[in-house]
Amino acid sequence: MELKLIAQDLTQTSKTACDALIVLVPELFAQSLPVSKAKTTSNLTELISQALKEGDFETKTGKLLQIYRSNHAAATRTVLVGAGDGSVKSIKTAVTAAVSSIKATSAKKLVICLSEVKQISAEAAKAAILCAADASYVYTSTKTKVEPRKLTNITVTVDSQALNASELIATQAYITPAMTGIEFAKEWGNRPANHATPDLLGKAAKSLSKYKNISVDVLGLKEVAKLGMGSFMSVAQGSDQPLRFIVLKYNGAAKTVAPTVLVGKGITFDTGGISLKPAPEMDEMKFDMCGAASVLGTFRALAGIQPKINVVGLIPACENMPSGKAVKPGDVVTSMSGQTIENLNTDAEGRLVLCDALTYAERFKPAAVIDIATLTGACVIALGAVRSGLFSANDDLANALLKAGESSGDPCWRMPLDDEYGEGLKSNFADMANVAGRAAGLVTAAKFLQKFTASYPWAHLDIAGTAWKSGAVKGSTGRPVLLLLNYLLNLESNHALTSVSIAKTAIKKVVKKVVNRPAKTAVKA
Ligand code: BES
Ligand code: MN
Ligand code: ZN
Repeated sequence: MELKLIAQDLTQTSKTACDALIVLVPELFAQSLPVSKAKTTSNLTELISQALKEGDFETKTGKLLQIYRSNHAAATRTVLVGAGDGSVKSIKTAVTAAVSSIKATSAKKLVICLSEVKQISAEAAKAAILCAADASYVYTSTKTKVEPRKLTNITVTVDSQALNASELIATQAYITPAMTGIEFAKEWGNRPANHATPDLLGKAAKSLSKYKNISVDVLGLKEVAKLGMGSFMSVAQGSDQPLRFIVLKYNGAAKTVAPTVLVGKGITFDTGGISLKPAPEMDEMKFDMCGAASVLGTFRALAGIQPKINVVGLIPACENMPSGKAVKPGDVVTSMSGQTIENLNTDAEGRLVLCDALTYAERFKPAAVIDIATLTGACVIALGAVRSGLFSANDDLANALLKAGESSGDPCWRMPLDDEYGEGLKSNFADMANVAGRAAGLVTAAKFLQKFTASYPWAHLDIAGTAWKSGAVKGSTGRPVLLLLNYLLNLESNHALTSVSIAKTAIKKVVKKVVNRPAKTAVKA
């Protein structure tokens, strides 16, 4: 699908031939209504004014008015949608409502007019276009009788005063890779476990190595055993599907630049193991690799954007199954770090695969390590589907992730890591147990992971509530690809800023030296 962003006003946009035109109408539009008593209207602005006046349309967020083959627009279908206060949130709600309303039509070319939302930010324009792509997404991989997405083009228009030329260019360069990355993550999240085995996940990762600056290694049991990943191996041992340990590298900067490491939980199916989960909704445990999918999606986006940074992706992938070979409650395993772990609940498997990947991450001398995992049901209870849980002892890292989440509309919320929360992890038979009590289960899980992260700045994102939707709209959301991508891109611009300021200080020093240098030539003469 082609995504485009242009600066153009409503009158001009209404003359563009397309299958569907969506016009976002904010509250402010209603306040500056052109007064006209005429029954007939000559343009779209007047038509909107009249519809508002006569009560057929409202600017309240998400309110819709559909018009077919209107004389006021070159589009086949025109959809007016209320955009409320014009905030990023309102814009997202409005776009989702309007795009959903035309999803069943045969519209191929869609234009979304944001020009009436004056002073719109680049972030809001990005959110709108990605939201439209999201609302038009159709999962097709394992269906034979499904019509694929009909939309082929989405063009978003913004007021020419809102974004300057360089903002337009930067936004245009971002939107398509971001969408492709999100959809890569959604695709792998949605695939049933028999179509997304650890081996297939490895092959999906391998497919990314065709892009510039990306290389991928996929390790099997032999190599993982050699590395001493006893904890990871203990989770995989109950399954007939062989485990995979996936290592992705994106090298956009000099080798000397320390990489950011992303670690994604890749449990391709979580039955709970011997501590078996109840049957209702167990199918949803195919989403237990959404952390891994978000890492793959982020790499897919990096491939398209090519920022000057270094990123490593690590994915421990396996199934968590009960069987005669499965790990049992009470078993003690030795992790790659050397620390021993008593497995008191085989359903707390995510942390057992992540801990070895976190130890493996040390070899990259990373600037930071961020793990992403559908780790606990407790996080779903605490934060629901709105915000991912964020844990970090490092304020700078936490704040940067919070900021990236807010600006991209893929938000998270910081949770505590006080040492007292870790007390329940004590074991009589190993260095630690893999579970504590029921209280604050999302925090105790993070405390477990923290024991493996002493040598670098670390953050953990619990995406159990945000990575997929349940019920009629069941499916992967592609989160938190945007959060991660924005965090990484901010690193690039911060790095550029620091290089500029380092360069400036260097220049100042040189200037000082030159100024203070004794005038040799004068002495000579
Ligand atoms: N994959 C689950 C977490 C999960 C549960 C995500 C429900 C979304 C919805 C994880 O492996 C798990 O089973 N966690 C247990 C931990 C418990 C045994 C300490 C949980 O949350 O119940
Ligand atoms: Mn589990
Ligand atoms: Zn799990």
